[in-house]
This record gives sequence, structure tokens and C-alpha cells, in this order.
Amino acid sequence: MNNAIAGFSKLSKEEKINWIAAEYFTNPTNAIATIKQYWNSDENLQKLHDDFIENTITNFYLPLGIAPNFLVNGTYYSVPMVIEESSVVAAASKSAKYWSTRGGFKATVLNSEKIGQVHFMYRGNVQKLEKFFAATKTKFFTATEDITKNMQKRGGGILDIELRNKTNAIENYFQLHATFETKDSMGANFINSCLEQFAKTLKAEAQNNIEFTEDEKDLQVVMSILSNYVPNCIVRAEVSCPVEELAEKKIENPLEFAQKFVQAVNIAEIEPYRAVTHNKGIMNGVDAVVLATGNDFRAVEAGVHAYASRTGTYSSLSHAKIENGIFTFWMEIPLALGTVGGLTSLHPLVKMALQILGKPSAHELMQIVAVTGLAQNFAALRSLTTTGIQEGHMKMHINNILNQFETSDEERKMIKKHFENNIISHASVVEFIENLRK
Ligand code: MEV
Repeated sequence: MNNAIAGFSKLSKEEKINWIAAEYFTNPTNAIATIKQYWNSDENLQKLHDDFIENTITNFYLPLGIAPNFLVNGTYYSVPMVIEESSVVAAASKSAKYWSTRGGFKATVLNSEKIGQVHFMYRGNVQKLEKFFAATKTKFFTATEDITKNMQKRGGGILDIELRNKTNAIENYFQLHATFETKDSMGANFINSCLEQFAKTLKAEAQNNIEFTEDEKDLQVVMSILSNYVPNCIVRAEVSCPVEELAEKKIENPLEFAQKFVQAVNIAEIEPYRAVTHNKGIMNGVDAVVLATGNDFRAVEAGVHAYASRTGTYSSLSHAKIENGIFTFWMEIPLALGTVGGLTSLHPLVKMALQILGKPSAHELMQIVAVTGLAQNFAALRSLTTTGIQEGHMKMHINNILNQFETSDEERKMIKKHFENNIISHASVVEFIENLRK
């Protein structure tokens, strides 16, 4: 039975580590050694990482890899990706190289509007509320001038504020539904600060409105928060080429390949069980770049999957067609990303990742991220509809098995040679290692 602890956050870092080690490990000395093994020897750098969150005890490593040769709108990018799944960077790189000789990726930001809402309860006459909102609307803008002036200098700010009547869903429920342009920042802090000021203005103005009854004046703000659902912050990524140009070593019959590929996408469009896995493959690419560039992958995940369900049925984010002999594969996804603010100027590796990408604007980063997702989806569908996924997966995963068994360089050479021409599975590799060691 483990114990609860009061005031954990008030303990020093050493005390926290000691408590965790004593509480959860039979050998606390080893546990402490493992925790400290991942500390950075540069104390300032370690302090920077410690301060990102509360109760930091150590760092958690994930690999940062590079997928080179991404030709996007005529420019080559080397894409930094942070991910633990062994085959993802290899798949992205392979797709990137493949499409670089077939016209590259085309990407376009269709719009970049963000949304935030003040949710409130109003018991009273709806026409009076509407009249009050129309008369008060400009005050929401003037009351937030201190917050918006810098954003306005950068060409962003509050785009519009609407009053939305939601009383057919919940009694007395209304919203201030606001739209924002946040330029190169993701904008969460900016939007939330604006919304909290809207809420204050709303309450104060309602109190002073002589046309309201006491009940109407007493409107209740439930919460003020941005929405991670951003269906008007969309980027489109696309590849296309004449069907016969799809040919390469493993694609001997390009028309058959293209048709099967389109069928696979059609299945993901109508079958939610498949769509979730199909989209997961897209997110392998999306999340890896989102993480490497210090963006909020939970926000992106939440928004993307909501978008994939916007018709009421969860469906594929990507689409494919063959028309007049041209194969086209594309997707449109919502991505609220930033290249300034947040971690972007704090985390040294995020700064590096952005430098490698040529210090992109938020729009450029949206394009790069979407393209990486599409490349990943292409790689997965290509494997699935030709060799099957396991061949490539296990080729990459074999290193994890070899590490797990702490194989020597000599053993590795023999194992890799053997599996060049034999089917790789966890069991077959383990069996081979065991035989080797007999
Ligand atoms: C594995 O991480 C991703 C795939 O399952 C995606 C897909 O099935 O399309 C290979």
C-alpha cells in the first residue's frame, strides 16, 4: 500500500526524488541514480527544463530525428520530428524523397481564424439581451485595447464577436462567440485574456443596463475559454502526378497501385474503425513536427479529430482520386500553430528545429506539418496496399529488440544478415538470438 503525501510541491527537488524512490522502489539508490542520469550537466539548462512544469524530477528523452528532402511549394525542407515509434521518420523520409521527383507537395493555408467563447446564463427577455449586445459590442473591443494593441500592430486581433443563443440546448444558455487572428502566435494566452476581459465587461455592462430587470442584470458567466476546435484554421496539402509516374521498384503496375490506394482511402472515408487508424497514421507525422516545434499537440489532436467527425460520422482526413490519368492525394486539416511565444523561444531544441525549418511563419509551419502528415499517410497506405505494414515496421523495430537483448556488435551483424532474407517477427528474432547464444 502506497502513502498519500501532503505538500509534495513544496518539497525541494532532492526531497521529491527521495520520497518517490523510497515510496515506489525496492532499491531506492538505483532509482535515484536512474532519475539523475537524465539530468543535464549544464545547471542552467536543467533549471530551464525544471521550470517548464511543476514537480519536475528529471527529463524524459524522446528522439529528435530529421526527415530530409521534403519539397513543399518548390522549397526543400529537412523536417525535424520528435517521436518514439521506430518506423515514422523512415516512412516520412521515404515519402518525401518519392514525391520530390514527382512535383513535390503543394500546400495552401485556406484560413487561420481562431475561436474563443464566453459561456453565460441569462434569465430574461431574449430581445432585450440582443439589443443590449448590439449596443455594447464596441465596448468589448475598447475594453481589450491594452491586450490587443501589440497583436494589432502585427496585423492580428479580434475579428468579430457574436451573441449566440443556445437556449434550445440548455435553458438560459448564451455565448459570446469571438473570432481572432493571432498571426505567428498560437494565441491561446492572447485569446483567453481577451475572453476574460469580455466576461468582465459583459457583467459590468449588464449591471448598468437600465432596461434590464434585476434578474436580467444578474447574468452568470460560467467560463471563458478558447476553443481548440478550429474549423476555420485550415491548411490543404496535396500531391499529384500522372498515374504512370507512380511506378518505382515496388510499384510495378502503377494503375493497379493507384486504384487500390484510392479504394483504401474510400474505405477510411466510410468506415470509422479504419478511419481512426488511417488518421492515426497522419497524426504520426503531424504530432512529431508539432512536438519538435514546441507546439501543443493535445490541442492539435483534439481539433483534428473533432474536424474528422464534423459530418456526424468519424471519417478520413485525406482523400484520393484518379481523374484523366492523374492521381491526386490530398487532405485539409485544422492546425492552430505558433512560431513565436510559448516554448518557441525557450526550449533550445525547439529554437533549433525552427531554425532548421528556415524560421517559418505560422502559415508556413501549418503547411510543413500538414505535408508531413500527408507523407506519413501515403507511406502507410503504400505499404498496406502492397507489401503489408509489418515488413517495414519490423525492419525498423528490430533495433528495439536487439537493444532489449543487449546484443553485441558481432551478434547484431549476424542477426541483421540473417533477417535480410527472412521474415522478421518479435518471436523469430528472439528465437534467433537464443539459438545464437546457445
Ligand atoms: C501505425 O503507427 C500507423 C498505421 O497503422 C497507419 C495506417 O494504418 O494507416 C500504419
